[in-house]
Amino acid sequence: MRIDILTLFPEIALAPLSDSIIQRARGAGLVDVRGHNLRDWSEDKHHRVDDSPCGGGPGMVLQPGPLHAAIMALKKENTRVILMTPQGAPLKQARVRELSSEGHLLIVCGHYEGIDHRIVETLIDEEVSIGDYVLTNGAIAAAILCDAVIRLLPGALGDSQSAVEESFSDPDLLEAPCYTRPIDFMGIKVPDVLLSGNHAKIKAWRREKAEERTRKNRPDLSDHA
Ligand code: ADE
Repeated sequence: MRIDILTLFPEIALAPLSDSIIQRARGAGLVDVRGHNLRDWSEDKHHRVDDSPCGGGPGMVLQPGPLHAAIMALKKENTRVILMTPQGAPLKQARVRELSSEGHLLIVCGHYEGIDHRIVETLIDEEVSIGDYVLTNGAIAAAILCDAVIRLLPGALGDSQSAVEESFSDPDLLEAPCYTRPIDFMGIKVPDVLLSGNHAKIKAWRREKAEERTRKNRPDLSDHA
C-alpha cells in the first residue's frame, strides 16, 4: 500500500508513524508513507497557500490553486483522495478495514477554517472526521487514520496483537475488561472465572462484561444491539 499525506506540517503527520508497530510495518515494506508540504505547490513568492474567507468571518481558507496542483501531481489512477475535516463522516472501524485494502490513499489535511469547497467538489472522494471535536490541524487526524489503517495490513501485527478479537470487530460491542499478573493487586483480585480454565465460562463472562461496559460507556451502541 502507498499513502501520501498532503499537509502544511508533514513532520506532525509523520512523527507518530515513525516508531513502534507502524515504523516496523513501514520498514518491512508493507506500506510506503510519504509526507508532502502543500507550500511546495504555491506559486506565491512567499509560499502563501491561504486567504481570507469570501463573505467574511474569522480565520483563513486554503486556496484552491496549490491544492489542485498538488493533488493532480500526487494522484494516480487507483488513488482514493481523502480530506481530513471535522465536517467529514465519522471514522468507524468498518471503514478503516475497507480503506486498508486500497492500493493508494492520498490524505489531504485541512487547516484554519478549511479548504476551498471547489476542491472538495472536484477532487476529494470522501471527507473523514476522527471525532466530534476540532484539532488545530488535519495532520494529527491524518496520522490517526494512517495508524488505524496500517495496523490492519497483513503482517503488521504479530499474533500476540491480533486485530480480530478487539473492540469494534463487532461494531456494537466494546471489549471486556482484561487482567494480568499479579493475581492480587493491592487487595483487588483477578476475577476467579478467568483463572478457572473453563473456556466456556470465560467466554460467557467476557460477553456479559462487554455488554455491561458498552451499556455504561457507549449507550449509543447499546441502543443498536
Ligand atoms: N481537523 C481538525 N479537526 C478534525 C477532526 N476532528 N477530524 C478530522 N480532521 C480534523
